[in-house]
Amino acid sequence: MRLLLIALACSFALACVPKRDLTVQQIPKLTKLEDVMDVQSTVMDPQFKKIGAASYSDADFAAFADAGARLQASAIKIKDFSKGAGFDALAMQLHDQAKQLADAAGAKNAVAASQALASMKSTCKQCHSKFR
Ligand code: HEC
Repeated sequence: MRLLLIALACSFALACVPKRDLTVQQIPKLTKLEDVMDVQSTVMDPQFKKIGAASYSDADFAAFADAGARLQASAIKIKDFSKGAGFDALAMQLHDQAKQLADAAGAKNAVAASQALASMKSTCKQCHSKFR
């Protein structure tokens, strides 16, 4: 009975799949900036918690590579909702930092990965303080 209730609750909520956990292929199809942002925080919040660690596991590097790929797609998508040149520049800055994260993950370079994460987090904040 309890299991049945959980199953029901899941199917009513989000079919147990976080709808903001979108793939590189799904991100370009979003139609609202808010939804793009929700994907970004869903993908990045767990990774931002790892900023400053002395070392990372292979699973961490795999997660960084995945987040870097998805954030490159989302950063490009942000420009569909442009609020001017300064806004676009911050979106491209986020894109380039996401690529740095993916590259650092590929090289299993912990220092570079942590730096890329920290710079991405700072770009989120910069854009929010100017344009949100
Ligand atoms: C180029 C500018 C820009 C960058 C870079 C940016 N944001 Fe945003 N963000 C915005 C704007 C503008 C809004 C307000 C959107 C709205 O409410 O329509 C917003 C809103 C949000 C929201 C609230 C969404 C909601 O449901 O109301 C979250 C969460 C968010 N951003 C997360 C992030 C994260 C995480 C990053 C970095 C990985 C990031 N943003 C980078 C411009 C940016």
